[in-house]
Amino acid sequence: MKSHILLLAAAILAGPAFAQDAPKGDAAKGEKLFMADGCWQCHGVGGNGAALTGPKLSQTALPFEAFLHQLRRPAAEMAPYEAAIVPDSAAADIYAFLKSRPASPDLKDLPLLQGMGVK
Ligand code: HEC
Repeated sequence: MKSHILLLAAAILAGPAFAQDAPKGDAAKGEKLFMADGCWQCHGVGGNGAALTGPKLSQTALPFEAFLHQLRRPAAEMAPYEAAIVPDSAAADIYAFLKSRPASPDLKDLPLLQGMGVK
């Protein structure tokens, strides 16, 4: 009985830790993992997305929990990545890399498209 109360107290004290933001990841490591784990093949180098294979991931608005959930239990066609392949710490590194990506330029700022009359 006493141990139950201790466990409960520990859970209450630990509670806020679960509500914290993404674990600190290493963006440089994350970039290497993004390439080594093959994410780029569908999501584009730098996570810029590719029309036919995978959505843009750079500067993802997903909270880390949702990002991790997509890896473990993908929403649709993406293959799952189990923790043995991409541990939580590696996922945090990839997440940090994607969050660190620069914003995409406006289409009107791309010289190639300017020549084609895109406004
Ligand atoms: C074979 C292609 C493919 C590979 C490889 C792949 N993905 Fe995906 N990913 C997708 C597709 C397609 C979706 C759209 C949702 C779905 O199918 O589950 C997606 C969705 C996502 C999303 C959700 C995006 C959003 O805004 O909802 C995340 C996050 C993601 N992928 C991360 C990764 C990471 C990290 C890797 C590498 C460890 C990876 N993916 C590898 C195809 C891929």
